Amino acid sequence: MASCLPLLAILLYFSFSVEPQSLYYNSTAIAPTSWINSPAIPLSTNYSDGSSVRALLLRLNPAGFGPSFAAGFYCFYPCKSVFFSIFIVYAIRDERGLWYPIPQVIWSANRAHPISENATLQLTSQSGLTLHDGDGSLIWTTDIGNQSVAGINITEFGNLVLFDINNSPIWQSWEHPTDSLVMGQSLAGGQRLTASSSRTNWTEGRLYLILLAGGIFAFVNSNPPQLYYNISSNISNRSVDKSAFLTLGNGSLYMNSSLFKPNERIVLKGFVGARNIQYIRLEYDGHLRLYDFDSSTGQWILLGDLFTEDYCAYPTFCGHYGICNNGQCTCPAETSGNYFKLVDDRQPQLGCSTVTPITCEDVNNHELLTISNVSYPNYVDDVAFSRIDEDRCKKDCLENCSCKAVVYRYFDKNVSDGRCFMLSEVFSFENYKSESPYTNSSAYIKVQVAPSPPHSRGGLGKILVFTFGTLLCLLALISIYLVCLRKVEETQDSEEAEDEDFNIDQLPGMPTRFSFEELREATENFTKKLGEGGFGTVFEGSWSNERIAVKRLKNTEQARKDFLVEVVAIGRIHHINLVRLTGYCVDRVNRLLVYEYMCNGSLDQWISCNEWREPLDWSTRLKIITGIAKGLCYLQEDCRQKILHFDIKPENILLDEKFNAKISDFGLSKLIDREMSRVMTLQMRGTLGYMAPEWWITGEVSEKVDVYSYGVVVMEILCGRRNIDCSQTKENQHLLVLLEQKAKSNELLDLIDKNIGDVNSYEGEIMNIMQLAMWCLQLDSSRRPSMSAVVKVLERVMVVETSLSYNFIPSIPTITCAVGQVDQSAALLASTSRVQDQIP
Ligand SMILES: *[C@@H]1O[C@H](CO)[C@@H](O)[C@H](O)[C@H]1NC(C)=O
Ligand SMILES: *[C@@H]1O[C@H](CO)[C@@H](O)[C@H](O)[C@H]1NC(C)=O
Ligand SMILES: *[C@@H]1O[C@H](CO)[C@@H](O)[C@H](O)[C@H]1NC(C)=O
Ligand SMILES: *[C@@H]1O[C@H](CO)[C@@H](O)[C@H](O)[C@H]1NC(C)=O
Ligand SMILES: *[C@@H]1O[C@H](CO)[C@@H](O)[C@H](O)[C@H]1NC(C)=O
Ligand SMILES: *[C@@H]1O[C@H](CO)[C@@H](O)[C@H](O)[C@H]1NC(C)=O
Ligand SMILES: *[C@@H]1O[C@H](CO)[C@@H](O)[C@H](O)[C@H]1NC(C)=O
Ligand SMILES: *[C@@H]1O[C@H](CO)[C@@H](O)[C@H](O)[C@H]1NC(C)=O
Ligand SMILES: *[C@@H]1O[C@H](CO)[C@@H](O)[C@H](O)[C@H]1NC(C)=O
Ligand SMILES: *[C@@H]1O[C@H](CO)[C@@H](O)[C@H](O)[C@H]1NC(C)=O
Ligand SMILES: *[C@@H]1O[C@H](CO)[C@@H](O)[C@H](O)[C@H]1NC(C)=O
Ligand SMILES: *[C@@H]1O[C@H](CO)[C@@H](O)[C@H](O)[C@H]1NC(C)=O
Repeated sequence: MASCLPLLAILLYFSFSVEPQSLYYNSTAIAPTSWINSPAIPLSTNYSDGSSVRALLLRLNPAGFGPSFAAGFYCFYPCKSVFFSIFIVYAIRDERGLWYPIPQVIWSANRAHPISENATLQLTSQSGLTLHDGDGSLIWTTDIGNQSVAGINITEFGNLVLFDINNSPIWQSWEHPTDSLVMGQSLAGGQRLTASSSRTNWTEGRLYLILLAGGIFAFVNSNPPQLYYNISSNISNRSVDKSAFLTLGNGSLYMNSSLFKPNERIVLKGFVGARNIQYIRLEYDGHLRLYDFDSSTGQWILLGDLFTEDYCAYPTFCGHYGICNNGQCTCPAETSGNYFKLVDDRQPQLGCSTVTPITCEDVNNHELLTISNVSYPNYVDDVAFSRIDEDRCKKDCLENCSCKAVVYRYFDKNVSDGRCFMLSEVFSFENYKSESPYTNSSAYIKVQVAPSPPHSRGGLGKILVFTFGTLLCLLALISIYLVCLRKVEETQDSEEAEDEDFNIDQLPGMPTRFSFEELREATENFTKKLGEGGFGTVFEGSWSNERIAVKRLKNTEQARKDFLVEVVAIGRIHHINLVRLTGYCVDRVNRLLVYEYMCNGSLDQWISCNEWREPLDWSTRLKIITGIAKGLCYLQEDCRQKILHFDIKPENILLDEKFNAKISDFGLSKLIDREMSRVMTLQMRGTLGYMAPEWWITGEVSEKVDVYSYGVVVMEILCGRRNIDCSQTKENQHLLVLLEQKAKSNELLDLIDKNIGDVNSYEGEIMNIMQLAMWCLQLDSSRRPSMSAVVKVLERVMVVETSLSYNFIPSIPTITCAVGQVDQSAALLASTSRVQDQIP
């Protein structure tokens, strides 16, 4: 027994050192007892992700070490929300020393109501457990009827049990699951797992999983609920079979119901035998994920998704009305008017809203907007679909005000009727892939069209307006004609000759030339907008079954020949970390560039933590940081001609399916009209927050301008936030101001993004990269490294300069968040004028 004590000491070592002799823990407590959420609770610890626990009951793994279950107060960063929870804690000893993998919460009392310091948990024989907040309000209690509780026990499988005088259970946490199941735990017929609202808000969300007679069904709670996933033997039988149950075993999910074979094992992709312990959780994004603890690395790992891994198949991925396309969210195409807008332009995944709300007072102005080639998550849900013909289906929806959209699917092409599904609430659609079985389907979304204006003006007024209008039109037409005539004369003779010189698409590896019509078709008339920048607007399209991104340039008065010369130059540049130009279009008025399509979008969508995306782990972040450096290095040093980018920022870093970073928009400054380009260097190029100070103070530019912007981007990746974030409190708005403070007070660790995961194990590496970023951010441009030096540091063949200056903010006034301003990257011109105001 005595030999166990050192081991216990290791296990229960908490930041303040406790003598092994005085260290003890309870897995059982006898009523009456009470606990107060305060620092006085001895079993407490802080974790690297900012979460902390105060354990009240702990059941050591029977092996004496390993993953163990505890019940107590848990809070996640920044520890404003505390819950009474059951969690898995772990400690191991290996050559790396003491490890504290982040605790995993598997159950919580009243997730809608976090508690405060001094909240009280009481165990009494009349009411079992009751939880009162610091202010005395009742948060949660166990419902035990008039039975009498003798005590409480946490078992080695993580079940919190209230037992009576005969040790028989009265209440068990296993019978009241929240969003997770641990090994051995069962979900009974009719019971649910309900996902949290978001990663940080644990209030019950709208997605839930329920066990019914026909199988496992996952719904989004709407009126009526909409099915989004099923694992079923008979999808139609939705009756509650109380005798059915679903158990998480070692490496499998067992289903016991009369419709399944006894103990039918549902082995899903990703399942392997448990090394120690596993649990599944229905997460805020609707995925049912299986986690496993790997003691060799001391980390919890995600074994797999028990539902589909296709993000777009989940109803909330792109919010309301969003259309999901390879992980990118857009609003329904605006072919016949401007009916939808993004809820937040910077976060397309939050979905769209109708520009004009649908009102039941004005049903005559309801119309159905046709959305082509989309599927809706519950296409397989036969129960929800009724069998009628398509016109009837649309008519029914228009006549029923609570119907917000219909999804219609034909059984087969030769039958006139199909399945009609009316939605009372519209969640995300998925742009279906070519192999999709749902090609015979259509979706129609209801919109409110503006009422036609009342014809109020009388006879004379009308005539006057008409005459005046006609006159104006005529004048305009004449002048347009004259202008066109001149233009045509000017350009016609030279065009043919130029085109012959530049049949560049016939050379292998060179970009293909498209006609404007071809690109118009490929992009569905420029409807799927991917983004907008200083050079023009980017649209999604597809060409011979490949996704493409088409950039339509603005301000392109440049001669065709010069444009073609530049296209040739850019088309020659091939590097894994540069977005490849695959085609172009040039005619009298249009200049378009065609690029490969990047399914993970631009880096800005991944920088800050948001509800709908898993934060990037450290190895992915490092991969991106390295990729950008290599791309820039190639542009500056390995290319035939040196190319300065001038606008390195997360919006211009695209990510492919493997999270390879690819720089876009390089070489474009030369595609813009030459005369304008000098003016535009200041006006159009560069984005506030990424521009090197010497550039906007003195106008001096060199490749060190790109090195500086790179430093800003690296800081943003490490810190999980934008450089200028006007949504923060005033003192936190500017990341570089914080960097200067923390560097001077030697508290740089505070800046690291808490969402990186196990920061502790990568701390040294992260700090090294932060030093590298600070090197790039030196105010004196001659003290910044070259991009090849940056790459060498990343490849560990060189170390960061040690005598760095910790002044990152130039002495003249810098960027501030204007009152009411929320978006730093909003209008480039507007922001430039602000910069100019501040240039002395
Ligand atoms: C364990 O239980 C005993 C008796 O109920 C109590 O005195 C002691 O404080 C408990 N220990 C902890 C760590 O809660
Ligand atoms: C955990 O962090 C809090 C706040 O930083 C601190 O007050 C407390 O002492 C720490 N607890 C332990 C056990 O280290
Ligand atoms: C908790 O209670 C202690 C002692 O009664 C008191 O000193 C402290 O201020 C309280 N804390 C809060 C946050 O109410
Ligand atoms: C209370 O207990 C009595 C017997 O002890 C039992 O007959 C009665 O049904 C119980 N009432 C409830 C509501 O459980
Ligand atoms: C508490 O649970 C453990 C493990 O399940 C069991 O061995 C023990 O008898 C229980 N204690 C009480 C008092 O029920
Ligand atoms: C958490 O989510 C619920 C339901 O979605 C919402 O009502 C509540 O306001 C959210 N709480 C916070 C702090 O955002
Ligand atoms: C869901 O139900 C459909 C329709 O019955 C069925 O074809 C499909 O296989 C089910 N999905 C799973 C994963 O069982
Ligand atoms: C599935 O269930 C439905 C309704 O519950 C029933 O009508 C149908 O016969 C069942 N199908 C099979 C194959 O058992
Ligand atoms: C649904 O399944 C339950 C349990 O397996 C069965 O008893 C019931 O008859 C089924 N209902 C229908 C309509 O098939
Ligand atoms: C599942 O049901 C079958 C019979 O219906 C039974 O033999 C088996 O023991 C059940 N499995 C479990 C884990 O209880
Ligand atoms: C789970 O099963 C595997 C074999 O499939 C076995 O090696 C492992 O020890 C089991 N784990 C537990 C925790 O029982
Ligand atoms: C829908 O898909 C079909 C077949 O893939 C294609 O022919 C058609 O052009 C698409 N329609 C739209 C509007 O994208």
